[in-house]
Amino acid sequence: MTEATSNQSNNGNVFVLNHPLILDKLTRIRNKKTEKKDFQENLTEIVSLMAYEVFKDVPLADVTIETPIAQMQGKTLAKKIVLCPILRAGLGMVHGLEHLIPNAIISHIGMYRDEATLEPQEYFFKYPNVSNHEDTLVYILDPMLATGGSTLAAIKKLKSIGVKNIVFIGIVGVQEGINKIHKEHKDVKIYLASLDEKLNEHGFIIPGLGDAGDRIFGTK
Ligand code: PRP
Repeated sequence: MTEATSNQSNNGNVFVLNHPLILDKLTRIRNKKTEKKDFQENLTEIVSLMAYEVFKDVPLADVTIETPIAQMQGKTLAKKIVLCPILRAGLGMVHGLEHLIPNAIISHIGMYRDEATLEPQEYFFKYPNVSNHEDTLVYILDPMLATGGSTLAAIKKLKSIGVKNIVFIGIVGVQEGINKIHKEHKDVKIYLASLDEKLNEHGFIIPGLGDAGDRIFGTK
């Protein structure tokens, strides 16, 4: 029997959430025998569990309400939340957060990685008409942080239109990808369910979970 020694490790704006429930579900989605439905369900549950840590510092505002018995000062989220999945695989992470934060706005960044060069290619971008970027918290979603090229391109795109508060939520990542992002954007917090070993010669995460997009959408 092994025990998770800590439910979170933080190394310079990188947070690896080693919670036993997350690790159990992560093992399920890593397993190549896990089929589409179970893959998506476990992915959703992992993301919801991660949300407990990721959103723990979100600012609150006071709100006056009436319970059936008395008036009271309650709390409500003070900032606008934008979830920004990187297509396609990031879409598989949206539901796990949206059902917890129903008023979250969903932005989309279409990006695929050229298989030969491993360079990200942008093909779609839709961001809400936000007047105050200070009051908006943006969460980039992608299950895989490999070379870091796709996430870096997404961060650059968002910052180019004025976005200020960016957090990345991934499932599996490697140090190479983290380094690529933090070399230029140390302000971006990175949350992962696992920091994996390395990339192979094709840029795939080892041990990883395969191609998340293909497993979510059944396109393999
Ligand atoms: C995968 C993954 C990331 C990217 C990671 O997407 O979902 O977006 O590759 O690699 P990187 O860190 O080296 O950029 P893919 O290109 O397979 O597109 P898909 O989600 O449409 O399958």
